[in-house]
Amino acid sequence: MIIAIDGPGAAGKGTLARRLAAALDLAFLDTGLLYRAVAAKVLADGHDPAVPAVAEAAARSVTFADLNRPDLRREGVGQGASQVAAIPGVRAALLDLQRRFAGQPPDGKRGAVLDGRDIGTVVCPGADVKLFVTASLDSRAARRQKELRGRGEASIYARVKQEMQERDARDSARATAPLKPAPDAVVLDTSEMDADSAFRAAMDIISARTAAPPA
Ligand code: C5P
Repeated sequence: MIIAIDGPGAAGKGTLARRLAAALDLAFLDTGLLYRAVAAKVLADGHDPAVPAVAEAAARSVTFADLNRPDLRREGVGQGASQVAAIPGVRAALLDLQRRFAGQPPDGKRGAVLDGRDIGTVVCPGADVKLFVTASLDSRAARRQKELRGRGEASIYARVKQEMQERDARDSARATAPLKPAPDAVVLDTSEMDADSAFRAAMDIISARTAAPPA
């Protein structure tokens, strides 16, 4: 069973995907970490994440072990991730890793939950259930700011909101695998939901989509 969860940043998809994977005993992959790992490598070497040759070389060298780097959640790495993610050669280099994870989930799991921007449209177009998790810009910016402050990173709301808007624009406008719901995705707007309600709503959608049709 493959569950694809896409959507913009700070819409609650990471928390939701993790909880769904635990509840359904599926493997979990946060695919944003792959793009973050590429950006972190490029930035650590002092290079510009927007330069294709450099970012592509970093993408080809990324392994699942790189997803444990402690610096991946930083805001600067997130911005770099959205720059490397617009480079087709980077996306191509990471596609195989993601499909292998979905096709042969680790630890003998019977399936996987993948979260990202293009899981339902490109990585796993045949997924059993596709959710597009979104929320208003203001509620996402407020969540991101809370998250940053919780980690002790100083942040100004207007700046967090502006960076989020820039990242949304870059992710939605890129030519390769832009952020958009798959035609068969169910859209879940979490603006007015806490993590528990989003989880219950998602479980209802999954049950409805995976229930055997009446004989
Ligand atoms: O989800 P997260 O904020 O960690 O993702 C960082 C960046 O990686 C996103 O802004 C997006 O540009 C890129 N990304 C992507 N496709 C995915 C996952 C993430 O383009 N499947």
